[in-house]
Amino acid sequence: MKVCVIGGAGYIGSHAVLELVQDGHEVVVIDNLSTGIREAVDENARFYWGDITDESGLDEIFKKETDTHPFDAVMHFAAKIVVFESVSQPLEYYHNNVEGVRIMLKTMVRHGVKNVIFSSTAAVYGDVKKDICTEEDECIPINPYGETKLASERMIRWVTQAYEMNYCIFRYFNVAGAHESLKIGLKRDNLTHIIPITVQTALKLRESMTIFGDDYPTEDGTCIRDYIHVADLAWAHVLGMKYIVSQQKSATINLGSSAGFSVKEVIDEVSRHLPVRYSIGPRRPGDPAKLIASSTKARELLGWVPKRTLKDIIRTDLEFRKKHETR
Ligand SMILES: NC(=O)c1ccc[n+]([C@@H]2O[C@H](COP(=O)([O-])OP(=O)(O)OC[C@H]3O[C@@H](n4cnc5c(N)ncnc54)[C@H](O)[C@@H]3O)[C@@H](O)[C@H]2O)c1
Repeated sequence: MKVCVIGGAGYIGSHAVLELVQDGHEVVVIDNLSTGIREAVDENARFYWGDITDESGLDEIFKKETDTHPFDAVMHFAAKIVVFESVSQPLEYYHNNVEGVRIMLKTMVRHGVKNVIFSSTAAVYGDVKKDICTEEDECIPINPYGETKLASERMIRWVTQAYEMNYCIFRYFNVAGAHESLKIGLKRDNLTHIIPITVQTALKLRESMTIFGDDYPTEDGTCIRDYIHVADLAWAHVLGMKYIVSQQKSATINLGSSAGFSVKEVIDEVSRHLPVRYSIGPRRPGDPAKLIASSTKARELLGWVPKRTLKDIIRTDLEFRKKHETR
């Protein structure tokens, strides 16, 4: 298939591009490189610098590409994703994340592209009150980032219904790890995710780290989360695309591993490689004790089962950071 990947120079997008190329698809990447890295895009993909909020610029690229052969599908990864930043800059987040999706959909309709794969997030659920989260759970986001993703989801559903298109919306849980080649991985200033922070601490790129609360009602008292390797996540996008194109159906699907690990278990696993200095701090507001994705739907509809474990996630992130951050 011919696939347009918007935001394909970013962490998750670049992994999706690689999986698509390796599965034999023709891939076109559009990215404004605001957080993406040009070199992260596989050399077999065609790259255009472009901004999703620039309607005429996006239209030009679609025109040029569809002259030869129309896109079978568009994958969207082009979002601003920093939760705390979204609280102080909601207008920028609505513009980039929601207006960007509107322009993408409009361009798809204009050029007759019928299939869209959208990266959403567990943040659409908000303050989850139960351990295992299913796609039917109520969505009440608690920050502008989550709101923009939920607004985009809803727009995608209305637009695809009106223009007889198909969508696959993926809600990700905690994505981590790097590609086995160590060429691509999570490179970002101000990392906020537990795995890269623990790994950076082990590599002495940080002095120490804090566990926010060890008095939760879990076995070791620390929060339990569901971690998924970025390559498994990327592969799900290829399966989701094939599903909506072949079945002419739409779906909203959680992507997690259905397994939970505590913060202490993450630190213990990193400590098997290198020691980690940490202290215990107070709980953070809004952190649920346990959050795990039900991935029954991904398994049943797509036949998707994550192949990599927490060990693989930590090993690849550690090797990636050793290679790119300690030299
Ligand atoms: N990383 C996570 O843990 C996580 C979790 C849940 C959901 N997601 C979703 O996954 C998607 C990708 O996240 P990521 O971690 O790869 O982030 P990222 O910042 O690494 O990638 C985003 C990419 O989109 C590009 N981009 C942003 N705005 C653009 C615009 N206006 N026009 C063109 N390109 C633009 C950036 O340059 C970058 O290459 C996002 O939609 C995010 O909401 C990520």
